[in-house]
Amino acid sequence: PETITIQDLANRMAERAVDVIKLLMKQGQIHKITDTIDADTAQLVAEELGHTVRRVAEADVLEGLFDEPDLEEHLEPRPPVVTIMGHVDHGKTSLLDAIRKTDVVAGEAGGITQHIGAYQITTPSGAKITFIDTPGHAAFTAMRARGAKITDIVVLVVAADDGVMPQTVEAISHAKAAGVPMVVAINKMDKPDANPQRVRTELLQHNIQVESMGGDTLEFEVSALTGQGLDTLLEGLLLQAEVLDLKADPLRNAEGTVIEAKLDRGRGPVATVLVQRGLLEPGDIIVAGAEWGRVRALISDTGEMIEEAGPSYPAQVLGFNGTPDAGDRFAVVESEARAREITEYRARVKRERAAARASVNRGSLADMMR
Ligand code: GTP
Ligand code: MG
Repeated sequence: PETITIQDLANRMAERAVDVIKLLMKQGQIHKITDTIDADTAQLVAEELGHTVRRVAEADVLEGLFDEPDLEEHLEPRPPVVTIMGHVDHGKTSLLDAIRKTDVVAGEAGGITQHIGAYQITTPSGAKITFIDTPGHAAFTAMRARGAKITDIVVLVVAADDGVMPQTVEAISHAKAAGVPMVVAINKMDKPDANPQRVRTELLQHNIQVESMGGDTLEFEVSALTGQGLDTLLEGLLLQAEVLDLKADPLRNAEGTVIEAKLDRGRGPVATVLVQRGLLEPGDIIVAGAEWGRVRALISDTGEMIEEAGPSYPAQVLGFNGTPDAGDRFAVVESEARAREITEYRARVKRERAAARASVNRGSLADMMR
């Protein structure tokens, strides 16, 4: 197994060896500076000290996954991926539903089919926008913590009759931490006690300066109930997207992120994925987290079988051998052997990490009982 000396570990983190020794001591392990510890313990120490760990062996096994740069000449514009956030009951889901009704394509096909975690609409001008309905901010944070950056723009929904509330503030700090541009939707404008000016002033207290107050955050007065302002909101999102100049290579092997996944009785594991680059097609061998499979079918957000899914497209994937986790990044690989190599390695790391954690916990427990 991989090991590292305490001195080495300290050097790599630019920490003092004595601090590493102290930390291990707290966990019931006595070491001197020249001792070696195993990789899992080293990782726990490093994480405890606030470092991000990248295991070299993992880099070897996963070489070529996710870090192959796109070819400049292959880059093509892609639709923006928009996440809606805001305080509970301020109308996030209602807004998403109302926006979906403006979809010229789905409208023709018979309107809303079911509630799903992600969908793409085509605006009257023919532009596409992908919307993601993350179930609460916790999911957003978890995805970010795992290195999955899926959102290009956050729409902050604030109810005009309620104003800035705790989860509004939370959403603001999430968007800021993720470095994602934000657009404000002041919702429920149809309500008699709607007070958008109050919302603007309260936002200012949280360092969000909207356009009408001289700032550069786009703001839109909307109503999910009446549909007021939705067209303008969509135009605003497209404008914001234009500034971001979003591009991806649609030709390479597909990569992206699992948005949600569940085990379906009849169909087996079903994963909703967001393709972020490349083209995903039936027959592809796909790896996500510690799971892999051969894509048996791709299903669109309206429930139809599709032959391909390109950048920014949210599709359901059938064919995984197990259920991946939300936030897992996925990639198409060249062979089943390669898929097995990667997933077996990841499964082993997962097991070993759990075991290391358990032994560290035993250490600190023994400590406490002393
Ligand atoms: P959570 O998912 O629970 O955080 O709530 P949400 O933000 O998704 O809010 P949701 O869309 O479920 O709406 C909450 C309530 O507000 C529902 O009763 C909606 O009918 C109502 N509502 C949402 N948008 C509007 C609006 O524009 N006008 C009015 N009058 N009511 C609205
Ligand atoms: Mg909701």
